[in-house]
Amino acid sequence: MASRPIISRTVPALRKALQPYRAKRQTIALVPTMGALHSGHLALVKEAQKRAKRVVVSIFVNPTQFAPHEDFGSYPRRFEADVKALSEAKVDLVWAPSPAVMYPEGFATRLAPEGAALAGLEDKFRPHFFGGVATVVSKLFTQVAPDVAIFGQKDYQQLRVVTQMAKDLDLPLKVIGLPTVREKDGLALSSRNVYLSELERGHAPVLYRTLKNCAARIKAGEPIEMVLEEGRLEITRAEFALDYLDARHALSLAPVASVKDGPIRLLVAAKIGKTRLIDNLAV
Ligand code: PAJ
Repeated sequence: MASRPIISRTVPALRKALQPYRAKRQTIALVPTMGALHSGHLALVKEAQKRAKRVVVSIFVNPTQFAPHEDFGSYPRRFEADVKALSEAKVDLVWAPSPAVMYPEGFATRLAPEGAALAGLEDKFRPHFFGGVATVVSKLFTQVAPDVAIFGQKDYQQLRVVTQMAKDLDLPLKVIGLPTVREKDGLALSSRNVYLSELERGHAPVLYRTLKNCAARIKAGEPIEMVLEEGRLEITRAEFALDYLDARHALSLAPVASVKDGPIRLLVAAKIGKTRLIDNLAV
Protein backbone atom coordinates (compact mmCIF):
# COMPACT_ATOMS: atom_id res chain seq x y z
CA MET A 1 0.00 0.00 0.00
CA ALA A 2 1.20 3.51 -0.80
CA SER A 3 2.23 5.53 2.25
CA ARG A 4 -0.01 8.42 3.27
CA PRO A 5 1.33 11.89 2.52
CA ILE A 6 2.05 14.22 5.44
CA ILE A 7 -1.09 16.27 6.11
CA SER A 8 -0.44 19.78 7.43
CA ARG A 9 -3.29 21.91 8.74
CA THR A 10 -1.56 24.96 10.22
CA VAL A 11 1.13 27.30 8.88
CA PRO A 12 3.72 26.34 11.56
CA ALA A 13 3.07 22.63 10.90
CA LEU A 14 3.48 23.22 7.16
CA ARG A 15 6.78 25.07 7.69
CA LYS A 16 8.04 22.24 9.89
CA ALA A 17 7.05 19.61 7.32
CA LEU A 18 8.79 21.53 4.50
CA GLN A 19 11.95 22.21 6.50
CA PRO A 20 13.70 18.86 5.75
CA TYR A 21 13.13 19.37 2.00
CA ARG A 22 14.68 22.82 2.19
CA ALA A 23 17.59 21.58 4.32
CA LYS A 24 18.40 19.05 1.57
CA ARG A 25 17.84 21.72 -1.14
CA GLN A 26 15.13 19.56 -2.73
CA THR A 27 12.95 21.34 -5.29
CA ILE A 28 9.25 21.71 -4.48
CA ALA A 29 6.24 21.79 -6.82
CA LEU A 30 2.85 23.03 -5.64
CA VAL A 31 -0.48 21.97 -7.15
CA PRO A 32 -3.25 24.21 -5.74
CA THR A 33 -6.72 22.61 -5.72
CA MET A 34 -10.10 22.83 -4.05
CA GLY A 35 -10.24 19.02 -3.70
CA ALA A 36 -12.88 16.67 -5.16
CA LEU A 37 -9.95 15.48 -7.23
CA HIS A 38 -10.33 13.95 -10.69
CA SER A 39 -7.92 12.80 -13.41
CA GLY A 40 -7.39 16.44 -14.49
CA HIS A 41 -5.95 17.29 -11.08
CA LEU A 42 -3.93 14.05 -11.06
CA ALA A 43 -2.38 14.94 -14.44
CA LEU A 44 -1.10 18.14 -12.79
CA VAL A 45 0.35 16.05 -9.95
CA LYS A 46 2.15 13.77 -12.44
CA GLU A 47 3.73 16.74 -14.19
CA ALA A 48 4.67 18.23 -10.81
CA GLN A 49 6.57 15.04 -10.01
CA LYS A 50 8.53 15.36 -13.25
CA ARG A 51 9.46 18.94 -12.45
CA ALA A 52 10.42 18.76 -8.78
CA LYS A 53 11.72 16.35 -6.17
CA ARG A 54 8.84 17.02 -3.75
CA VAL A 55 5.17 17.60 -4.52
CA VAL A 56 2.75 19.52 -2.32
CA VAL A 57 -0.98 19.50 -3.15
CA SER A 58 -3.14 22.09 -1.42
CA ILE A 59 -6.78 21.31 -0.77
CA PHE A 60 -8.74 24.38 0.24
CA VAL A 61 -12.25 25.36 -0.83
CA ASN A 62 -11.58 29.08 -0.82
CA PRO A 63 -14.58 31.02 0.51
CA THR A 64 -13.37 34.39 -0.86
CA GLN A 65 -13.71 33.32 -4.50
CA PHE A 66 -17.39 32.38 -4.14
CA ALA A 67 -20.18 34.99 -4.15
CA PRO A 68 -22.92 34.53 -1.52
CA HIS A 69 -25.32 33.07 -4.12
CA GLU A 70 -22.72 30.59 -5.45
CA ASP A 71 -22.01 26.96 -4.50
CA PHE A 72 -19.48 27.34 -1.63
CA GLY A 73 -21.76 25.42 0.76
CA SER A 74 -22.51 22.58 -1.63
CA TYR A 75 -19.10 22.41 -3.39
CA PRO A 76 -18.08 18.70 -3.30
CA ARG A 77 -15.80 17.93 -0.33
CA ARG A 78 -14.22 14.46 -0.32
CA PHE A 79 -11.10 14.83 1.78
CA GLU A 80 -10.55 11.16 2.61
CA ALA A 81 -11.02 10.02 -1.02
CA ASP A 82 -8.69 12.83 -2.13
CA VAL A 83 -5.98 11.79 0.34
CA LYS A 84 -6.31 8.19 -0.84
CA ALA A 85 -5.84 9.26 -4.49
CA LEU A 86 -2.85 11.42 -3.49
CA SER A 87 -1.33 8.54 -1.51
CA GLU A 88 -1.58 6.33 -4.58
CA ALA A 89 -0.01 9.14 -6.64
CA LYS A 90 2.85 9.26 -4.07
CA VAL A 91 2.38 12.93 -3.20
CA ASP A 92 4.66 14.05 -0.36
CA LEU A 93 2.51 16.59 1.44
CA VAL A 94 -1.11 17.74 1.54
CA TRP A 95 -1.61 21.32 2.69
CA ALA A 96 -5.17 21.48 4.04
CA PRO A 97 -5.78 24.66 6.05
CA SER A 98 -9.19 25.53 7.46
CA PRO A 99 -10.80 28.85 6.52
CA ALA A 100 -9.83 30.14 10.00
CA VAL A 101 -6.17 29.27 9.37
CA MET A 102 -6.18 30.88 5.92
CA TYR A 103 -8.23 33.93 7.00
CA PRO A 104 -7.76 34.40 10.75
CA GLU A 105 -9.81 36.90 12.71
CA GLY A 106 -8.78 40.39 11.62
CA PHE A 107 -7.55 39.36 8.13
CA ALA A 108 -7.65 42.59 6.11
CA THR A 109 -5.54 42.34 2.94
CA ARG A 110 -6.88 41.41 -0.45
CA LEU A 111 -5.26 41.55 -3.90
CA ALA A 112 -7.11 43.37 -6.68
CA PRO A 113 -5.76 41.97 -9.98
CA GLU A 114 -6.26 43.99 -13.14
CA GLY A 115 -5.28 43.25 -16.76
CA ALA A 116 -6.49 39.77 -17.71
CA ALA A 117 -8.60 39.74 -14.52
CA LEU A 118 -10.75 42.53 -16.00
CA ALA A 119 -11.06 41.08 -19.52
CA GLY A 120 -14.86 40.96 -19.37
CA LEU A 121 -15.07 37.15 -19.35
CA GLU A 122 -15.38 35.29 -15.98
CA ASP A 123 -14.94 38.62 -14.17
CA LYS A 124 -18.12 39.95 -15.76
CA PHE A 125 -20.20 37.12 -14.30
CA ARG A 126 -18.15 36.54 -11.12
CA PRO A 127 -16.82 40.01 -10.18
CA HIS A 128 -15.46 38.85 -6.78
CA PHE A 129 -13.73 35.77 -8.27
CA PHE A 130 -10.22 36.82 -9.32
CA GLY A 131 -9.65 38.96 -6.23
CA GLY A 132 -10.36 35.83 -4.17
CA VAL A 133 -8.22 33.58 -6.38
CA ALA A 134 -5.25 35.99 -6.53
CA THR A 135 -5.37 36.51 -2.76
CA VAL A 136 -5.48 32.82 -1.86
CA VAL A 137 -2.95 31.77 -4.50
CA SER A 138 -0.49 34.47 -3.38
CA LYS A 139 -0.90 33.16 0.18
CA LEU A 140 -0.37 29.55 -0.99
CA PHE A 141 2.76 30.64 -2.88
CA THR A 142 4.09 32.41 0.21
CA GLN A 143 3.21 29.57 2.59
CA VAL A 144 4.73 26.77 0.49
CA ALA A 145 7.39 28.83 -1.36
CA PRO A 146 7.52 26.32 -4.24
CA ASP A 147 10.00 26.40 -7.13
CA VAL A 148 7.20 25.63 -9.55
CA ALA A 149 3.39 25.81 -9.40
CA ILE A 150 1.20 23.77 -11.74
CA PHE A 151 -2.20 24.92 -13.00
CA GLY A 152 -4.63 23.68 -15.66
CA GLN A 153 -5.48 25.55 -18.85
CA LYS A 154 -9.07 24.48 -18.15
CA ASP A 155 -9.38 27.69 -16.08
CA TYR A 156 -7.64 29.74 -18.71
CA GLN A 157 -8.32 33.25 -17.45
CA GLN A 158 -7.30 32.14 -13.94
CA LEU A 159 -4.01 30.81 -15.36
CA ARG A 160 -3.32 34.18 -17.00
CA VAL A 161 -4.20 36.09 -13.81
CA VAL A 162 -2.05 33.87 -11.56
CA THR A 163 0.91 33.98 -13.99
CA GLN A 164 0.77 37.79 -14.05
CA MET A 165 0.33 38.00 -10.26
CA ALA A 166 3.47 35.90 -9.63
CA LYS A 167 5.41 38.11 -12.05
CA ASP A 168 4.08 41.39 -10.64
CA LEU A 169 4.88 40.37 -7.05
CA ASP A 170 8.38 39.12 -8.04
CA LEU A 171 7.62 35.71 -6.59
CA PRO A 172 10.60 33.42 -7.29
CA LEU A 173 8.69 30.55 -8.89
CA LYS A 174 7.63 29.34 -12.29
CA VAL A 175 3.91 29.03 -13.12
CA ILE A 176 3.12 26.25 -15.57
CA GLY A 177 -0.21 25.65 -17.37
CA LEU A 178 -1.12 22.16 -18.60
CA PRO A 179 -3.65 21.12 -21.27
CA THR A 180 -7.23 20.27 -20.24
CA VAL A 181 -8.00 16.63 -19.51
CA ARG A 182 -11.31 15.59 -21.13
CA GLU A 183 -13.86 12.80 -21.11
CA LYS A 184 -14.01 10.66 -24.28
CA ASP A 185 -16.81 12.85 -25.67
CA GLY A 186 -14.78 16.03 -25.13
CA LEU A 187 -16.36 17.33 -21.92
CA ALA A 188 -13.63 18.94 -19.78
CA LEU A 189 -13.26 17.14 -16.43
CA SER A 190 -14.50 19.35 -13.59
CA SER A 191 -15.38 18.82 -9.93
CA ARG A 192 -18.70 20.47 -10.80
CA ASN A 193 -19.65 17.81 -13.42
CA VAL A 194 -21.16 15.77 -10.55
CA TYR A 195 -23.98 18.36 -10.45
CA LEU A 196 -25.13 17.39 -14.00
CA SER A 197 -28.28 15.28 -14.43
CA GLU A 198 -28.11 12.47 -17.00
CA LEU A 199 -29.92 14.64 -19.55
CA GLU A 200 -27.66 17.64 -18.92
CA ARG A 201 -24.58 15.42 -19.13
CA GLY A 202 -25.81 14.34 -22.58
CA HIS A 203 -25.90 17.98 -23.73
CA ALA A 204 -22.63 19.04 -22.10
CA PRO A 205 -20.16 18.01 -24.88
CA VAL A 206 -21.67 20.72 -27.13
CA LEU A 207 -19.28 23.23 -25.52
CA TYR A 208 -16.10 21.49 -26.68
CA ARG A 209 -17.67 20.51 -30.02
CA THR A 210 -18.51 24.16 -30.68
CA LEU A 211 -15.06 25.36 -29.62
CA LYS A 212 -13.47 22.86 -32.02
CA ASN A 213 -15.74 23.84 -34.94
CA CYS A 214 -15.21 27.55 -34.35
CA ALA A 215 -11.43 27.16 -34.01
CA ALA A 216 -11.23 25.22 -37.30
CA ARG A 217 -13.36 27.76 -39.17
CA ILE A 218 -11.47 30.78 -37.80
CA LYS A 219 -8.18 29.10 -38.67
CA ALA A 220 -9.51 28.56 -42.21
CA GLY A 221 -10.07 32.32 -42.51
CA GLU A 222 -13.81 32.73 -41.88
CA PRO A 223 -14.78 36.01 -40.17
CA ILE A 224 -14.47 35.64 -36.39
CA GLU A 225 -17.70 37.39 -35.38
CA MET A 226 -19.84 35.40 -37.83
CA VAL A 227 -18.32 32.09 -36.70
CA LEU A 228 -18.84 32.98 -33.03
CA GLU A 229 -22.46 34.04 -33.63
CA GLU A 230 -23.20 30.61 -35.14
CA GLY A 231 -21.37 28.93 -32.28
CA ARG A 232 -23.46 30.86 -29.74
CA LEU A 233 -26.64 29.65 -31.47
CA GLU A 234 -25.46 26.03 -31.41
CA ILE A 235 -24.83 26.23 -27.64
CA THR A 236 -28.16 27.89 -26.83
CA ARG A 237 -29.99 25.30 -28.95
CA ALA A 238 -28.50 22.58 -26.67
CA GLU A 239 -30.44 23.95 -23.64
CA PHE A 240 -27.54 26.04 -22.33
CA ALA A 241 -27.91 29.62 -21.09
CA LEU A 242 -24.79 31.18 -22.58
CA ASP A 243 -22.68 33.65 -20.56
CA TYR A 244 -20.08 34.15 -23.30
CA LEU A 245 -18.37 32.58 -26.29
CA ASP A 246 -15.55 34.86 -27.30
CA ALA A 247 -12.22 35.03 -29.14
CA ARG A 248 -9.39 36.77 -27.31
CA HIS A 249 -5.66 37.31 -27.52
CA ALA A 250 -4.21 34.20 -25.86
CA LEU A 251 -1.94 36.15 -23.50
CA SER A 252 -3.55 39.53 -22.78
CA LEU A 253 -7.15 38.27 -23.28
CA ALA A 254 -7.79 41.53 -25.15
CA PRO A 255 -10.46 41.39 -27.90
CA VAL A 256 -9.25 40.38 -31.38
CA ALA A 257 -10.75 41.27 -34.74
CA SER A 258 -8.86 38.83 -36.97
CA VAL A 259 -6.30 36.02 -36.87
CA LYS A 260 -3.64 38.66 -37.55
CA ASP A 261 -4.21 39.92 -33.97
CA GLY A 262 -3.45 36.40 -32.64
CA PRO A 263 -2.46 34.01 -31.07
CA ILE A 264 -6.16 33.50 -30.38
CA ARG A 265 -7.90 31.60 -27.59
CA LEU A 266 -11.62 30.82 -27.69
CA LEU A 267 -13.34 30.90 -24.30
CA VAL A 268 -16.82 29.79 -23.34
CA ALA A 269 -18.99 29.78 -20.20
CA ALA A 270 -22.58 28.56 -20.06
CA LYS A 271 -25.11 27.28 -17.59
CA ILE A 272 -27.19 24.16 -17.97
CA GLY A 273 -29.79 23.72 -15.23
CA LYS A 274 -27.99 24.86 -12.09
CA THR A 275 -24.50 23.98 -13.31
CA ARG A 276 -22.12 26.52 -14.81
CA LEU A 277 -19.42 25.06 -17.08
CA ILE A 278 -16.39 26.75 -18.64
CA ASP A 279 -14.02 25.63 -21.38
CA ASN A 280 -11.52 27.08 -23.86
CA LEU A 281 -9.40 26.13 -26.85
CA ALA A 282 -6.49 27.53 -28.87
CA VAL A 283 -7.20 28.54 -32.49
P1 PAJ B 1 -9.85 23.56 -8.83
O1 PAJ B 1 -11.08 23.88 -9.59
O2 PAJ B 1 -9.87 22.44 -7.84
O3 PAJ B 1 -8.71 23.30 -9.86
C1 PAJ B 1 -7.38 23.06 -9.43
C2 PAJ B 1 -6.47 23.03 -10.65
O4 PAJ B 1 -6.85 21.94 -11.49
C3 PAJ B 1 -6.60 24.32 -11.50
O5 PAJ B 1 -5.32 24.74 -11.92
C4 PAJ B 1 -7.46 23.85 -12.66
O6 PAJ B 1 -7.24 24.59 -13.84
C5 PAJ B 1 -6.99 22.41 -12.81
N1 PAJ B 1 -7.98 21.61 -13.54
C6 PAJ B 1 -9.32 21.50 -13.28
N2 PAJ B 1 -9.91 20.72 -14.21
C7 PAJ B 1 -8.95 20.32 -15.07
C8 PAJ B 1 -8.92 19.51 -16.24
N3 PAJ B 1 -10.03 18.95 -16.72
N4 PAJ B 1 -7.75 19.32 -16.87
C9 PAJ B 1 -6.60 19.90 -16.40
N5 PAJ B 1 -6.55 20.68 -15.30
C10 PAJ B 1 -7.70 20.89 -14.64
O7 PAJ B 1 -8.94 26.25 -9.76
C11 PAJ B 1 -9.12 26.09 -8.57
O8 PAJ B 1 -9.38 24.87 -8.00
C12 PAJ B 1 -9.03 27.25 -7.57
O9 PAJ B 1 -9.49 28.43 -8.18
C13 PAJ B 1 -7.61 27.45 -6.97
C14 PAJ B 1 -6.58 27.79 -8.06
C15 PAJ B 1 -7.17 26.20 -6.18
C16 PAJ B 1 -7.65 28.65 -5.97
O10 PAJ B 1 -8.57 28.46 -4.98
